[in-house]
Amino acid sequence: MHDDVSRRKSQHLDLVQREEVEPAGTDPLFRCVRLVHRALPELRLADVDLSAEVSGARLRAPLMVVGMTGGTDRAGQINRDLARIAEEEGIAFGVGSMRVLLDQPELLPTFDVRPARPPRLFANLGAQQLVQRGRDAALRLIELIGADGIAIHLNPAQELVQDGGDRDFTGCLDAIARLAEELGERLIVKETGCGIGPDVVRELIARKVRVIDVSGAGGTSWTRVEQLRAQTAEAGALGELLSDWGLPTAACIGAAVRVLAPKKGPRVRVIASGGVRSGLDVARALALGADLAGFALPMVRAHQGGGIDAARAALHGAIAALRAACLLVGARDVQALRASRPVLLEPLPSWIAQLEPPP
Ligand SMILES: Cc1cc2nc3c(=O)[nH]c(=O)nc-3n(C[C@H](O)[C@H](O)[C@H](O)COP(=O)(O)O)c2cc1C
Repeated sequence: MHDDVSRRKSQHLDLVQREEVEPAGTDPLFRCVRLVHRALPELRLADVDLSAEVSGARLRAPLMVVGMTGGTDRAGQINRDLARIAEEEGIAFGVGSMRVLLDQPELLPTFDVRPARPPRLFANLGAQQLVQRGRDAALRLIELIGADGIAIHLNPAQELVQDGGDRDFTGCLDAIARLAEELGERLIVKETGCGIGPDVVRELIARKVRVIDVSGAGGTSWTRVEQLRAQTAEAGALGELLSDWGLPTAACIGAAVRVLAPKKGPRVRVIASGGVRSGLDVARALALGADLAGFALPMVRAHQGGGIDAARAALHGAIAALRAACLLVGARDVQALRASRPVLLEPLPSWIAQLEPPP
């Protein structure tokens, strides 16, 4: 089991370096969000306040390095380095799926990022494992790495393409509801690159989920990654067919924000990951109404290309571009950016309107 999982995790880290994992046909549709330029910003760049809140913590920028890896020495180094950068920049960080740790406790050092301490640290487990192993297992994972909460990931498309992947996706909503009861805003429910649409957003909110990472299509395609690993012609063909499956990230944000807009009661936060590739994309996600944006692939690629320094430079570049975008729309802070009204180009407005028609 350990060798299998280790091999798979290593293969994933190698495969995501290949260009095809972002298939040409997928598009997060951030290019359809045009921020409105303000020729008279009347702001100092240094005064732009990027701070944001998630799960009860103040971050210095509205960003998260979302869950990716663990389980091997190489993965452990990636986790520790990226967590250190997240701490330096005051942003949130999540480790990858900790399923393997439930059976192989000796792998803890590959998930434990201490002494790094980002302002918010999240464990990670798949929804199907939550069903099988129960709420206490998820709580134990949080404790094991001294995390603040856990991200429960949804990945049915990837599982269906994966040889030996899960085929039973029942019971997840109930299991998530039980965990949400315990964790409140310390629980994130996230997709892994196919998107969370408005109906699922509604179902999650009804079960008291307070933080949702829509993780839409347009970035890393896990159906494509599994296609590249496929052992059978059938799995390969399904992976190919589904390689651009999913809801574009910008459409997910727009639709989720429509669902949330009229809601009274506790605030639900939206994280936008999936194809976020620059600080400008972060600004576009926030202008659509997201609270935070998340990077996966750009961070691991930078790290595998040039180690911690390259990953740090990538993050600095993104934060600088976000700050520049805020100034250029005349937004003094993240709230002002979220309140700005970008011009939306087709096909994004059609996607949003058809996913979640206006009331
Ligand atoms: C190498 C790698 C491994 C990943 N492993 C996990 C994981 O274990 N758990 C999870 O929730 N998401 C995982 N993801 C998905 C990301 O968290 C994210 O949802 C997705 O990749 C979309 O973001 P991106 O386009 O910036 O890569 C992984 C992504 C990458 C690139």
